[in-house]
Amino acid sequence: MIVGVLKEARAGESRVSATPSTVEQIRKLGYGVVVDPGAGAAAGFVDSAYESAGATTGDAATADVVLGVNAPAPHQLDRIRPEATVIALFSPAFDPAMTEDLGRRSFTALSMDAVPRISRAQSMDVLSSMANIAGYRAVIEAAHEFGRFFTGQVTAAGKVPPARVLVAGAGVAGLAAIGAAGSLGAIVRATDPRPEVAEQVRSLGGEYLAIESAEAEVSRTGYAKEMDDGYKAREAELYAAQCLEADIVITTALIPGRPAPTLITAEMVAGMKPGSVIVDMAAANGGNVEGTVKGEKTVTENGVTILGYTDLAGRLPAQASQLYGTNLVNLLKLMTPDKDSGLVLDWDDPVQRSITVVREGELAWPPPPVEVSAAPAPAPSKVVVELPASKQPMTVRQKSGGVAVAAFALFLTAGFAPAAMLPHVTVFVLAIVIGYYVIGHVHHALHTPLMSVTNAISGIIVVGALLQIGHSSTAVTVLSSVAILLAGINVFGGFAVTRRMLAMFNRS
Ligand code: NAI
Repeated sequence: MIVGVLKEARAGESRVSATPSTVEQIRKLGYGVVVDPGAGAAAGFVDSAYESAGATTGDAATADVVLGVNAPAPHQLDRIRPEATVIALFSPAFDPAMTEDLGRRSFTALSMDAVPRISRAQSMDVLSSMANIAGYRAVIEAAHEFGRFFTGQVTAAGKVPPARVLVAGAGVAGLAAIGAAGSLGAIVRATDPRPEVAEQVRSLGGEYLAIESAEAEVSRTGYAKEMDDGYKAREAELYAAQCLEADIVITTALIPGRPAPTLITAEMVAGMKPGSVIVDMAAANGGNVEGTVKGEKTVTENGVTILGYTDLAGRLPAQASQLYGTNLVNLLKLMTPDKDSGLVLDWDDPVQRSITVVREGELAWPPPPVEVSAAPAPAPSKVVVELPASKQPMTVRQKSGGVAVAAFALFLTAGFAPAAMLPHVTVFVLAIVIGYYVIGHVHHALHTPLMSVTNAISGIIVVGALLQIGHSSTAVTVLSSVAILLAGINVFGGFAVTRRMLAMFNRS
């Protein structure tokens, strides 16, 4: 079977659906590859690079499996063979005319933008891989327009305050923007109606601005839902206040199947400082900002630049093509269960069913909804968690009782044990008390260095036990052996765990 890589027909499209390295991966699945002449030129991949990877140049539209980024142009569609399978971003949910056109054709059409957001399909999730690049690029575009440092500096020539970046919507694009702006040194704040993203925002060094709402709940789909009027009013207050301070605003808010919500009004833009920059990533879906012009850069009367670019991922064409191409390779792997067997569309697989727009000339859109589980099911609200008896906090009475028993045991030991034993018992008891309070309060993040300390202690135990193991008393010999065994397990177990943890940081 031959896989064809189309030259994108859409004006301004710089991406390509396969790179020389993904061509090699496609060939390993048993396919031959034909690439339209000049298909990868705009992304920096010349024909000879494809040829070195084992592809030939020719008419890709006549292949058995046709790959594209955007929906092929009519002149390309007309050349596709009836038994072929075409894989591209057809946007069937937003482009009913295209869906209707596809329905009249007899080939099979699969749309990569319909991959459901479930863990199993992550490796094929084109929307996420493109949004990730676009979020990063949004920050680069903003930094270019801003004309000042993102990071704060104190120099001989004066003090530069850090830029303040507000990110509205912490989905894939938003999180990428938070990471990029933070790494350039800006102070980053972000908001999102899905409370579960707070931790992700913080882990990237951003500050999560929560909007209190009874409606805010953990999303089970990975997407937000339309919020009530109360939420919208509080949200508007927050954006109005944040816009007064922000130097850069990046909006990414999206509710699937709806036009983008308007978050930043013209009044809020008018209140922003001159020189501020807004990147409205939702421009293609109507925009999150009043005054955005789709695909254009505009400057308001008060000197705020609004970028409505819709090709942000394509502004990093080589990277975007590589990730898109890898998403396609992962789909081809899924659809090629046995190498050399050709492409098999498994109708019972929810991922393959979800992306099928047309199957052998039969319109299959819209697909049945997929039961997704991006987040764990929320716990029932009125569950009373019963701690096991041992985990219940001790009452004052229990604590006093424990102290009294320990004091009595110490008293008995002091009274009846041989005199030489008393200092050992005292050290032992003090070690337990101090160890309990010191180690019990060590932060989780420091447990690894703590493990090194316990390894050192285990080493001392081994030395002590070795000195005692030859003792005339059998009891002492047995105790020493047990001590060596347990301490040995601790030492070697500690080394094994540390080795595995270090391996995680090993790039190779
Ligand atoms: P996503 O679904 O992962 O993220 C959208 C986020 O918006 C979600 O976290 C959602 O909870 C949040 N949201 C919804 N309503 C909100 C509100 N009222 N206030 C704040 N946040 C709200 O989507 P993804 O993949 O991150 O894409 C984000 C946007 O970027 C989309 O509109 C997408 O079309 C666009 N995009 C634009 C590109 C460009 O070149 N301009 C390229 C790629 C994506």
